[in-house]
Amino acid sequence: MRRVLLAGAAAIGLALAGGAAAAPASQPWMNPRLTPDQRADLVLKQMSLDEQIGLLHGSMPMFLNPRPPGVVISAGYIAGLPRLGVPPLKESDASLGVANAGRGKTDDATALPSGLATAATWDPKIAYQGGAMIGKQARQKGFNVLLAGGVNLIRDPRNGRNFEYGAEDPLLAGTMAGAAIRGIQSNHIISTTKHYAVNDQETGRMVLDAQLGDAAARESDLLAFEIAIETGHPGSVMCAYQRVNGTYACENPYLLTDVLKRDWAWPGFVMSDWGAVHSLGAAKAGLDQESGQQLDKQVYFDKPLKAAVASGEISAGKVHDMAHRVLRAMFAQGLFEHPPEAGGLDTAADAAVALKAAEQGIVLLKNEGGLLPLARHARKIAVIGGHADVGVISGGGSSQVAPLGSVSFPRPPGAPKWGGGILFHPSSPLKALQARAGGAEVVYDDGSDPARAAALAKSADVAIVFATQWASEAMDVSLTLTDNQDALIDAVASAQPKTVVVLETGNPVLTPWIDKVGALVEAWYPGHKGGEAIAEVLTGEVNPSGRLPVSFPASEAQLPRPALSGDKVTEAADNSAQPKPFDVAYTEGSDVGYRWFAKTGEKPAFAFGRGLSYTRFRYSDAKVTGGKTLTVSFRVTNTGARAGTETPQLYLAASPGRRQQRLIGWSRVALKPGASTAVTLAAAPRMLANWDEHAHAWRVAGGAYRVFVGPDAATPALRGSATVSATSLKP
Ligand code: BGC
Repeated sequence: MRRVLLAGAAAIGLALAGGAAAAPASQPWMNPRLTPDQRADLVLKQMSLDEQIGLLHGSMPMFLNPRPPGVVISAGYIAGLPRLGVPPLKESDASLGVANAGRGKTDDATALPSGLATAATWDPKIAYQGGAMIGKQARQKGFNVLLAGGVNLIRDPRNGRNFEYGAEDPLLAGTMAGAAIRGIQSNHIISTTKHYAVNDQETGRMVLDAQLGDAAARESDLLAFEIAIETGHPGSVMCAYQRVNGTYACENPYLLTDVLKRDWAWPGFVMSDWGAVHSLGAAKAGLDQESGQQLDKQVYFDKPLKAAVASGEISAGKVHDMAHRVLRAMFAQGLFEHPPEAGGLDTAADAAVALKAAEQGIVLLKNEGGLLPLARHARKIAVIGGHADVGVISGGGSSQVAPLGSVSFPRPPGAPKWGGGILFHPSSPLKALQARAGGAEVVYDDGSDPARAAALAKSADVAIVFATQWASEAMDVSLTLTDNQDALIDAVASAQPKTVVVLETGNPVLTPWIDKVGALVEAWYPGHKGGEAIAEVLTGEVNPSGRLPVSFPASEAQLPRPALSGDKVTEAADNSAQPKPFDVAYTEGSDVGYRWFAKTGEKPAFAFGRGLSYTRFRYSDAKVTGGKTLTVSFRVTNTGARAGTETPQLYLAASPGRRQQRLIGWSRVALKPGASTAVTLAAAPRMLANWDEHAHAWRVAGGAYRVFVGPDAATPALRGSATVSATSLKP
């Protein structure tokens, strides 16, 4: 009889969880048929206050002594509760891959291209696939939390972490980050989204006060998070270092409790950034877990939290809710049933995912006289600069993925003291071009002497200058290319009219030589197979289809803050040498990026959304209908001679009584030469709405809305308008 019962239980277990064992009667929370909330409640009933508090603070494994077996040096570790079957949380950075090789070391992790590169695909499927790949690798390296999902708005193009993020537009940034988070979490691991919120520059990030009103924030920075969270359902959100409207982000009740937990009804847990907790007030404000506790002045969420419960300052119910949120996320993502299994990496397949993202994210910005793709009759191609013989540059900081074979160059003076050198991923554009050159000779000059490089360029049929701009966490950058690269490009282009510039940058850069060069390609930080992706685009093996997720200003004077706020002091490794507190007033409000250009009438060098193709597209037959929202139908035709992909974009141009530009929809259409397709885009009503602080709701004003469809934010190809009825939407 006993044997029969056991067999039955096993069969139920199989049916329940694809092979997971059935819940033993003593551990009913192990029953995956219950909801994550029910399961969290059940296990919490068995947990002492100390055990609950144990889930609310975590260490950096490098400080653990002894380090538990199987725990590698990584970003974070929160002990589990073996007696109740609660697994530990093993946390790894970050959005571009598994970044735990450690200083100066490399490992077999695969590096995605930068977040900006993925966002430049405007294709959520690519973001999902990238997330799924790095989430799988995180599991295969023993982690169950990935500190990924960066969605800070690109409010300042000089932010040194922009390469980890997505876009200057909240709809694009949120949609792409949400898709990446879904991909990551498809592996039964928790993804975070970060750095909540308004962490829009790195200079002074530990001390600055980011000032942005409620309505402006909800229509910009917060909207990016809202969309990422509602589409990605991350288990966790990481609060940021700096202050927002006077209060540190990690102890900010407006951000954590009012908006995130109440208005958005998000059920996950908030973890702090490493070293971002300043008091126990953080718990009261809505922080659930103190991360990297060794970096805070005290481990506030350990003994001080217990003492606060004993004194009645913080209720036991509050601690219960904090632990509930952590456990709920763990149940929701299947961390109990699906522990990470080390090993089994398929690096070739994973690199193919990184390659595809890079191919699709490269943006062709100029192509005079069809200079690209490289002509088959070119006999000699001069490749210049950017360490193109070695690989492609990557961004520094906690997100740094260091694949085997990466090569490190010294950091510039004044760069943050932590982290390794400037890492080039081992994918040489020079070698990739040589492999595709047919009979042509591809010669290289490192660009250190502009006159020598110019002479080589002159002797060739075409010159390709690679310009790199390093960016890193804990610092910001100027928009001007460093290391005399503008002079190098100028010299080469003066000698060779057929000059192509390939940018590998973490941000927009200024292009003072643009009129002199024939073609310009923005390859971002193109990741693991970046050299191949660049060569494929240059040779025409891939028809470029990336579109800018950020405007390229013509000068820093065009920006809302021509100079970055704050002292140019980078932070010390131990957070000790901090600059003095200062304010950054984001007076542009929600008019970020292209919206700012629309408002000021200034012309950027390259508009948001821009990207050329080796074919051409025509827009026609617009029809705009109103009602509850705006719906726009039109046709796109490939009028060129090659198959290509176009990204038609729908912009709001004016709402009743207000001129305001906003991206409200887009599509990606792949078309053979001569082919045509009908596209219909319907705006989500919230994208037409403004936030009404008094009504605490999104308000769509009734009346006429003007829109345009086009290939970028500054090129209306088709215009129209329609009447939308008034609505109010609760958050
Ligand atoms: C970064 C986070 C990162 C954390 C853990 C912090 O310095 O801001 O993005 O996840 O470190 O490494």
